[in-house]
Amino acid sequence: MTNYTIKHNELTAEEFISLWESVWDGAPSLAQTKLAMQNTIFRVSIYDGEKAIAMARMIGDMGLCYYIKDVVVRPEYQGKGIGRTLINELLKFVNDNGIKGTSVFVELAAVPDKMPFYEKSGFTTNEARRLKMIYEVK
Ligand SMILES: CC(C)(COP(=O)(O)OP(=O)(O)OC[C@H]1O[C@@H](n2cnc3c(N)ncnc32)[C@H](O)[C@@H]1OP(=O)(O)O)[C@@H](O)C(=O)NCCC(=O)NCCS
Repeated sequence: MTNYTIKHNELTAEEFISLWESVWDGAPSLAQTKLAMQNTIFRVSIYDGEKAIAMARMIGDMGLCYYIKDVVVRPEYQGKGIGRTLINELLKFVNDNGIKGTSVFVELAAVPDKMPFYEKSGFTTNEARRLKMIYEVK
Protein backbone atom coordinates (compact mmCIF):
# COMPACT_ATOMS: atom_id res chain seq x y z
CA MET A 1 0.00 0.00 0.00
CA THR A 2 2.99 2.36 0.39
CA ASN A 3 2.87 3.81 -3.15
CA TYR A 4 -0.84 4.37 -3.19
CA THR A 5 -2.82 7.45 -2.12
CA ILE A 6 -6.01 7.21 -0.06
CA LYS A 7 -8.57 9.97 -0.54
CA HIS A 8 -11.75 10.75 1.36
CA ASN A 9 -14.89 12.12 -0.32
CA GLU A 10 -13.15 12.78 -3.62
CA LEU A 11 -14.36 9.79 -5.66
CA THR A 12 -16.10 11.18 -8.75
CA ALA A 13 -19.07 9.70 -10.58
CA GLU A 14 -16.81 9.04 -13.57
CA GLU A 15 -14.26 7.16 -11.42
CA PHE A 16 -17.10 5.22 -9.78
CA ILE A 17 -18.40 4.07 -13.17
CA SER A 18 -14.93 3.16 -14.42
CA LEU A 19 -14.25 1.07 -11.30
CA TRP A 20 -17.69 -0.55 -11.50
CA GLU A 21 -17.05 -1.52 -15.14
CA SER A 22 -13.73 -3.11 -14.16
CA VAL A 23 -15.62 -5.81 -12.20
CA TRP A 24 -19.34 -5.75 -13.06
CA ASP A 25 -21.68 -5.29 -16.03
CA GLY A 26 -24.55 -2.82 -16.14
CA ALA A 27 -23.01 0.33 -14.68
CA PRO A 28 -25.54 2.99 -13.61
CA SER A 29 -25.97 6.21 -15.61
CA LEU A 30 -23.81 9.26 -14.95
CA ALA A 31 -26.81 11.27 -13.70
CA GLN A 32 -27.82 8.56 -11.21
CA THR A 33 -24.24 8.13 -10.06
CA LYS A 34 -23.67 11.88 -9.55
CA LEU A 35 -26.78 12.08 -7.35
CA ALA A 36 -25.65 9.00 -5.42
CA MET A 37 -22.16 10.46 -4.83
CA GLN A 38 -23.68 13.71 -3.51
CA ASN A 39 -25.82 11.79 -1.00
CA THR A 40 -23.21 9.29 0.16
CA ILE A 41 -22.08 9.98 3.72
CA PHE A 42 -18.49 8.75 3.11
CA ARG A 43 -16.51 7.83 0.00
CA VAL A 44 -13.04 6.32 0.06
CA SER A 45 -10.93 5.88 -3.04
CA ILE A 46 -7.36 4.70 -3.59
CA TYR A 47 -5.06 5.86 -6.39
CA ASP A 48 -1.97 4.55 -8.14
CA GLY A 49 -0.64 7.87 -9.40
CA GLU A 50 -3.67 9.54 -10.98
CA LYS A 51 -5.53 6.29 -11.62
CA ALA A 52 -8.40 5.28 -9.32
CA ILE A 53 -7.76 1.64 -8.44
CA ALA A 54 -10.25 1.01 -5.62
CA MET A 55 -13.36 2.45 -4.01
CA ALA A 56 -15.95 1.89 -1.33
CA ARG A 57 -18.69 4.01 0.12
CA MET A 58 -21.02 4.23 3.05
CA ILE A 59 -24.62 5.32 3.23
CA GLY A 60 -26.54 5.71 6.46
CA ASP A 61 -27.89 7.93 9.21
CA MET A 62 -24.65 8.27 11.25
CA GLY A 63 -26.41 7.53 14.56
CA LEU A 64 -27.77 4.02 14.28
CA CYS A 65 -26.98 2.52 10.91
CA TYR A 66 -24.11 2.53 8.45
CA TYR A 67 -24.41 0.52 5.24
CA ILE A 68 -21.41 -0.40 3.08
CA LYS A 69 -21.82 -0.28 -0.70
CA ASP A 70 -19.75 -0.77 -3.85
CA VAL A 71 -16.48 -2.19 -2.52
CA VAL A 72 -14.31 -2.60 -5.62
CA VAL A 73 -10.60 -3.19 -6.25
CA ARG A 74 -9.52 -3.25 -9.91
CA PRO A 75 -8.76 -6.89 -10.83
CA GLU A 76 -5.04 -6.27 -11.46
CA TYR A 77 -4.69 -4.76 -7.95
CA GLN A 78 -6.61 -7.45 -6.03
CA GLY A 79 -4.94 -9.69 -3.47
CA LYS A 80 -2.58 -6.99 -2.15
CA GLY A 81 -4.50 -5.88 0.95
CA ILE A 82 -6.23 -2.94 -0.75
CA GLY A 83 -9.73 -4.29 -0.06
CA ARG A 84 -8.92 -4.61 3.63
CA THR A 85 -7.63 -1.03 3.62
CA LEU A 86 -10.95 0.15 2.18
CA ILE A 87 -12.89 -1.60 4.96
CA ASN A 88 -10.54 -0.21 7.63
CA GLU A 89 -11.09 3.32 6.29
CA LEU A 90 -14.87 2.84 6.40
CA LEU A 91 -14.73 1.55 9.98
CA LYS A 92 -12.51 4.50 11.00
CA PHE A 93 -15.21 6.79 9.62
CA VAL A 94 -17.79 5.07 11.85
CA ASN A 95 -15.51 5.37 14.85
CA ASP A 96 -14.90 9.07 14.16
CA ASN A 97 -18.58 9.92 13.63
CA GLY A 98 -20.70 7.60 15.76
CA ILE A 99 -21.85 8.63 19.24
CA LYS A 100 -19.10 7.62 21.66
CA GLY A 101 -20.01 4.73 23.93
CA THR A 102 -22.85 3.43 21.72
CA SER A 103 -23.18 0.41 19.44
CA VAL A 104 -24.14 0.91 15.81
CA PHE A 105 -25.06 -1.49 13.03
CA VAL A 106 -22.56 -1.68 10.18
CA GLU A 107 -24.22 -3.74 7.46
CA LEU A 108 -23.73 -4.89 3.89
CA ALA A 109 -24.92 -7.48 1.41
CA ALA A 110 -22.37 -9.83 -0.11
CA VAL A 111 -22.48 -12.71 -2.56
CA PRO A 112 -21.40 -16.00 -0.94
CA ASP A 113 -17.93 -16.12 -2.50
CA LYS A 114 -17.07 -12.68 -1.06
CA MET A 115 -18.24 -13.44 2.49
CA PRO A 116 -14.83 -14.74 3.67
CA PHE A 117 -13.30 -11.39 2.68
CA TYR A 118 -15.69 -9.52 5.01
CA GLU A 119 -15.43 -12.15 7.74
CA LYS A 120 -11.70 -11.47 7.86
CA SER A 121 -12.55 -7.88 8.83
CA GLY A 122 -14.88 -9.02 11.62
CA PHE A 123 -18.28 -9.20 9.93
CA THR A 124 -20.62 -12.09 10.69
CA THR A 125 -23.77 -13.32 8.96
CA ASN A 126 -27.22 -13.63 10.51
CA GLU A 127 -30.43 -15.33 9.41
CA ALA A 128 -31.89 -12.25 7.68
CA ARG A 129 -32.41 -12.51 3.91
CA ARG A 130 -32.10 -9.55 1.58
CA LEU A 131 -35.32 -8.43 -0.14
CA LYS A 132 -35.18 -6.22 -3.20
CA MET A 133 -37.30 -4.62 -5.91
CA ILE A 134 -36.05 -3.02 -9.11
CA TYR A 135 -38.32 0.04 -9.06
CA GLU A 136 -38.87 1.95 -12.33
CA VAL A 137 -38.90 5.71 -11.59
CA LYS A 138 -41.50 7.36 -13.87
C1 LIG B 1 -13.74 -8.44 -2.78
C2 LIG B 1 -12.56 -7.51 -3.08
C3 LIG B 1 -12.98 -6.08 -2.74
C4 LIG B 1 -11.37 -7.94 -2.19
O1 LIG B 1 -10.33 -7.00 -2.39
P1 LIG B 1 -8.77 -7.44 -2.31
O2 LIG B 1 -7.96 -6.20 -2.37
O3 LIG B 1 -8.50 -8.49 -3.31
O4 LIG B 1 -8.73 -8.08 -0.85
P2 LIG B 1 -7.47 -8.09 0.16
O5 LIG B 1 -6.24 -8.40 -0.63
O6 LIG B 1 -7.48 -6.87 0.98
O7 LIG B 1 -7.85 -9.36 1.06
C5 LIG B 1 -7.97 -9.30 2.47
C6 LIG B 1 -8.12 -10.71 2.98
O8 LIG B 1 -9.33 -11.28 2.45
C7 LIG B 1 -9.05 -12.45 1.72
N1 LIG B 1 -9.94 -12.50 0.56
C8 LIG B 1 -10.14 -11.56 -0.38
N2 LIG B 1 -11.08 -11.95 -1.27
C9 LIG B 1 -11.46 -13.19 -0.87
C10 LIG B 1 -12.41 -14.14 -1.38
N3 LIG B 1 -13.17 -13.87 -2.47
N4 LIG B 1 -12.55 -15.31 -0.72
C11 LIG B 1 -11.82 -15.58 0.39
N5 LIG B 1 -10.91 -14.72 0.92
C12 LIG B 1 -10.75 -13.53 0.29
C13 LIG B 1 -7.59 -12.32 1.30
O9 LIG B 1 -7.02 -13.58 1.05
C14 LIG B 1 -7.01 -11.64 2.52
O10 LIG B 1 -6.83 -12.60 3.54
P3 LIG B 1 -5.46 -12.71 4.43
O11 LIG B 1 -5.42 -11.45 5.24
O12 LIG B 1 -5.65 -13.94 5.23
O13 LIG B 1 -4.35 -12.76 3.45
C15 LIG B 1 -12.11 -7.64 -4.56
O14 LIG B 1 -11.89 -8.99 -4.85
C16 LIG B 1 -13.10 -7.09 -5.56
O15 LIG B 1 -13.13 -5.90 -5.85
N6 LIG B 1 -13.93 -7.96 -6.16
C17 LIG B 1 -14.87 -7.57 -7.22
C18 LIG B 1 -15.97 -6.69 -6.69
C19 LIG B 1 -16.76 -7.34 -5.57
O16 LIG B 1 -17.26 -8.45 -5.70
N7 LIG B 1 -16.87 -6.60 -4.44
C20 LIG B 1 -17.58 -7.08 -3.28
C21 LIG B 1 -19.03 -6.85 -3.40
S1 LIG B 1 -19.92 -7.70 -2.11
